[in-house]
Amino acid sequence: MTTEPVLRSTIAALADAAREKLPAEVFHYAAGGAGDEATVLSNVRKLDAFRLVPRVMRDVSEVDTAVDVVGGSLAAPFLVAPMGMQGLYHEEGEVATARAAAEHGLGFCLSMFGSRSPEQVADAAASQVRWRQMYITKDRRLNEELVRQAEAAGFDAIVCTVDLPVMAERLRDLDNTFQSFDNEVAAEASPALVHEPYFKELLGLWRGGHAEATPQQFIDHVFPHPGCGWNDLEDLIGLSPLPVIVKGVLHPHDAVRALGVGAAAVVVSNHGGSQHDRSIASIDALPGVAEAVDGAVPVYFDSGVRSGTHAAIALARGADSVLVGRPVLWGLAVHGPQGVRSVLDTLGNDLRNTMAFVGARTVRDLRNATILTEPGPHDPVFPG
Ligand SMILES: Cc1cc2nc3c(=O)[nH]c(=O)nc-3n(C[C@H](O)[C@H](O)[C@H](O)COP(=O)(O)O)c2cc1C
Repeated sequence: MTTEPVLRSTIAALADAAREKLPAEVFHYAAGGAGDEATVLSNVRKLDAFRLVPRVMRDVSEVDTAVDVVGGSLAAPFLVAPMGMQGLYHEEGEVATARAAAEHGLGFCLSMFGSRSPEQVADAAASQVRWRQMYITKDRRLNEELVRQAEAAGFDAIVCTVDLPVMAERLRDLDNTFQSFDNEVAAEASPALVHEPYFKELLGLWRGGHAEATPQQFIDHVFPHPGCGWNDLEDLIGLSPLPVIVKGVLHPHDAVRALGVGAAAVVVSNHGGSQHDRSIASIDALPGVAEAVDGAVPVYFDSGVRSGTHAAIALARGADSVLVGRPVLWGLAVHGPQGVRSVLDTLGNDLRNTMAFVGARTVRDLRNATILTEPGPHDPVFPG
């Protein structure tokens, strides 16, 4: 696909452009993270610290980036990560993002708090892999409805995010008083969920005792769910006709527990550092989880991917596919749907080139790539 020269910018330049274009509180909501944002930074820095060792003379005239994931096949190992309220960045919100991903043969994951409904997104990305993300809330009926609606809309899998027992203190949002969708800037982008008949019914039931309650207050009442445990995940998996992918796993033991209750896959993720500051960098957690899972189910990865090379490093360290987060929002904010296509193009081209340089003809071949942490001035590059 051809793109205008202006779109051939690095992801970092796109982030700068998004900062210029977006209302300040929206940019900081997307870019910022928990606490002093050590984890936001280290996710990217740790990925940056790896180096791939090129291999030569391997006939890479045919490089095949295709992979299978839960729910179907992708042209390349990328899915758009679930990110709430994309109406903040463009009027079409998730519809634009999902369509762009589908046009590239890539997957899309719709956040529970997406600005557009599962039906709208499913239509926009028809024929491609579509996942629906949700949290386990304190209201089991709401959980059931979310699953039921995802299945009815034609989604291929549920992504259950488990890494948010409490909400983080996000200092940029506190400074900007941007903590919810109960404000002028975010109102337009409010989660489609709150307009659903079933949500209104549940809100009405709750309102019985809380006559003035707003949708935001109901959400705050049921989510997050700090009492949530493995039995609740097992319950969700039991009631879901769709495979359930568990997102936000960093400890190998947790990955094994997720498998034990029936997870169809796990996503190694620290939520992009936007919730728990000082969390282990996602790329550092990946090999331990991949080893513990040992091929029983796919292992996906996100948090910090800013280039195809970053993706290649994650794939070499045990991921089966990669979810792309903030860069997609920057593309959407700056150039609309074309910006999302451009970001996905850039990542895909970079991955393909990286595969050729390291002599990997398939994504699976990347597992044999030699990757090293950047050596210090006196470290031997190849130990022994
Ligand atoms: C603005 C924003 C909203 C997000 N919303 C959700 C969400 O609703 N559900 C979820 O599981 N993860 C959510 N995430 C986390 C992403 O799915 C993903 O884990 C994270 O963005 C990866 O980090 P990166 O963007 O730095 O690569 C959100 C992230 C951002 C930046």
